[in-house]
Amino acid sequence: MQIVCKLESIEDGGAIEARVDRDNQPSLNLAVCRHGDQVFAWHNICPHQGRALNFAPNRFLFTPEGQLMCAAHGAVFEADTGLCVGGPCRGASLRGVAVAVQNGEVILTADSETNDE
Ligand code: FES
Repeated sequence: MQIVCKLESIEDGGAIEARVDRDNQPSLNLAVCRHGDQVFAWHNICPHQGRALNFAPNRFLFTPEGQLMCAAHGAVFEADTGLCVGGPCRGASLRGVAVAVQNGEVILTADSETNDE
């Protein structure tokens, strides 16, 4: 079981960065979004030009509707589906990493092994 972070470390409606080192695989640099007890993890790479979504360590932008906004050029993503719904890469998607919440911790699930490169 690979722990990503503690659920309580993510403000409800917010996001944090999480770096996850793994055996024999590249490290993951994730944007982990929380909606209540639900958590969604995305590779912290914008599909527009490949930049990180945040503008400073653990500082992400959100629209008033709770959508995640790339700090570089303003692409807007649904925090729960990763779909870009506005900005320069509309229709593209963030790449997801499968996570679950278990005993107050966000963990990578077995599916996450096949959902990244
Ligand atoms: S790199 Fe994210 S909108 Fe351009």
